[in-house]
Amino acid sequence: MKSMKVTLVLGTRPQIIKSAPLICLANNDPEIELSIVHTGQHYDYEMTKIFFEEFNLPEPTVNLNVGSGTHAQQTAKIMIRLEKILLKQKPDLVIVPGDTNSTLAGALTAAKLHIPVAHIEAGARSYDMRMPEEVNRRLTDHCSTLLFTPTENCTKNLLKEGIEEKKIYQTGDTMYDVLLRELPKAEKTTILEKLGLEPKTYVLLTAHRPENVDNLENLKNIIEAAIKLKPIIVVFPIHPRTQKQLRKMKLYKKIEKEKHIIMIKPQGYHETIKLIKNAKLILTDSGGMQKEAFWLKIPCLTLRETTEWPETMILGANSLVGTNVQKIIEKFNDIMNKEKEIVENLKDLPNLFGKGEASQKIIEIIKSIKSYLKN
Ligand code: UD1
Repeated sequence: MKSMKVTLVLGTRPQIIKSAPLICLANNDPEIELSIVHTGQHYDYEMTKIFFEEFNLPEPTVNLNVGSGTHAQQTAKIMIRLEKILLKQKPDLVIVPGDTNSTLAGALTAAKLHIPVAHIEAGARSYDMRMPEEVNRRLTDHCSTLLFTPTENCTKNLLKEGIEEKKIYQTGDTMYDVLLRELPKAEKTTILEKLGLEPKTYVLLTAHRPENVDNLENLKNIIEAAIKLKPIIVVFPIHPRTQKQLRKMKLYKKIEKEKHIIMIKPQGYHETIKLIKNAKLILTDSGGMQKEAFWLKIPCLTLRETTEWPETMILGANSLVGTNVQKIIEKFNDIMNKEKEIVENLKDLPNLFGKGEASQKIIEIIKSIKSYLKN
């Protein structure tokens, strides 16, 4: 008889990725009865179902089907629908990974029902409250019972905010667990052949942050920079938000004319990791890809002014370039001119994100304090 009921709330692409090993471990654990509640924040095949298939995950127990909307609509809809589910399920613990609207809505709903909340990836801070994710992270951390931090810096951020030390467990990063586990499968994909690419001949570009893609000036700049990288090939998997904005701002046709820019639909996890590992450089505004580039030792230029992952900036591995075209091109040329030295530096990067055992540790901690959580 399973003695602990755990509900995992997720709804977006990065949350599925960072939960994958945890789901597998929990599902095979004799003590844990796991229920997965998918909020429906992401709903396209390429944004959600593909990852359940790639990682062989069980279908979510429930899908709240909230879909897209404003922040308030999305968060509120999740809360209203999730509350009913949690009242029925009566879990001993609700786990929320990451920093999306699904994360915050899950944490708030559970906390208000006095159900203990565990936050995976706690303590990350960009100190930029204009980012929706920063609001989500902070509020989630402050209503969580257990905070699983990926790095020492994240632990320190929480302590600075007055969060009790006994609630914090520095486990390492579950995204690193996934990478180590899935790398052999990623290596086997044929995405490079499919796109006619040779290793280390292209830049991988992604952009989806609202502050970049919902702003005409910033989106134009990112595209301008990609055009200026000619003759270097730019591989550009396009997030649905970005796709919509490129069409709305009439930039889609402009890119289509550029032979060196390869636009593709959002890729699965394995294909993406293969594309990162074989790129010359990563140009991104994604939080997760900054870390994946760091772990795979590929130089990264981040299309933002701040990052919640300052750990990745050591030894020139990652630099913040914002969306200024000149700055992006200058920094790119700088890295290319010093390519040998930088690649040498990247070889020595310390691992600040744990040893790939974070998910295992999280499961052990949850089980060890089972009786405390039940009271
Ligand atoms: C969300 C997260 C962000 C995360 C990102 C990963 C928040 C505030 N943001 O951003 O932290 O990095 O997911 O992808 O939670 N859309 C589709 N199909 C989908 C999903 C979205 O077409 O399956 C389109 C819709 O037009 C939607 C837009 O993308 O309005 C934005 O989706 P939304 O879930 O609001 O935020 P993301 O930009 O994906």
